Amino acid sequence: MSDYEWNRTFFEKVVKINAGAADYGYRSAGPEGDRARLTEMETSALGPIRGASVLHLMCHIGAESTALAALGASVTAIDVNETAIRLARLRAEYLRLKIDFIQGDVRHAAGLVAGRKFDVVYMGLGLIGWISDLGALFRTVATCLRPGGRLVMFEIHPVAQTASAAEKSSDPRATEYGRHARDLPIRCEYRRSWAAERPSGEVDGFFLWKHSLGDVLTAVASAPLGIETFHEHAETTYRQFDDMTKGAGGTWSFVSPSIFPLTFTLVARRPYTRPSMAE
Ligand SMILES: C[S@@+](CC[C@H](N)C(=O)[O-])C[C@H]1O[C@@H](n2cnc3c(N)ncnc32)[C@H](O)[C@@H]1O
Repeated sequence: MSDYEWNRTFFEKVVKINAGAADYGYRSAGPEGDRARLTEMETSALGPIRGASVLHLMCHIGAESTALAALGASVTAIDVNETAIRLARLRAEYLRLKIDFIQGDVRHAAGLVAGRKFDVVYMGLGLIGWISDLGALFRTVATCLRPGGRLVMFEIHPVAQTASAAEKSSDPRATEYGRHARDLPIRCEYRRSWAAERPSGEVDGFFLWKHSLGDVLTAVASAPLGIETFHEHAETTYRQFDDMTKGAGGTWSFVSPSIFPLTFTLVARRPYTRPSMAE
């Protein structure tokens, strides 16, 4: 089984667990659950999106997609997992939000949206570790944006990713930060969903591509997308480490002062094409 296929099996199990997890709030009567709301980190990176067309990549079970639609955006969302897309459609229908959910591989996003161009491409937490070739991913993002359109990303900080991978993997490369560790994914022996309280017998690890912060920024800039803001945060949206506490806003941070950032937000814009001298 290839690394990608293995991860699909992992997600099939996790999707079902998350549909019943309190964090996603899918069992509750309303749009409750922390993942069904966007944090201040995400909303301030997004800015006002009422009326904007938003392409949401790797949307999982649609919690962030519905939150984006509730802010007034016209949302199209992609995920490769069929069950996730089915649950996302049900959830949007239940909340009476019109969202176009598409099942497919994000690496073919431009084809999946039939060449449509968006005001914003949104990428929520926990995506880049599933993708081996970030350069190709961000070139696809640039293709899906209209000139002047923005990529808005909220992601696990690569330093925090290395620290948590080191706890979850016996691969000696798990503790190594940076380029030398990224070519082959590391196997993480992690037996629970990020939204579950306890390990589950069904979940049997995953493969993770470790990208350094330099890899991410270079891939974005080479797409080409012009980086406008980049912020590092001491909070995240799930219990990534044991030594964490949940704040009033539903985000998690270290009990003791953080010695490294947990997440980052990045905003980058597709350049306007300059008219050539002949025009
Ligand atoms: C960690 S989850 C995203 C969680 C999301 N930010 C949230 O909080 O709900 C990653 C998602 O990426 C999807 N995924 C992984 N590889 C993909 C690919 N190549 N194309 C599209 N979706 C993919 C998985 O099916 C999964 O739903």
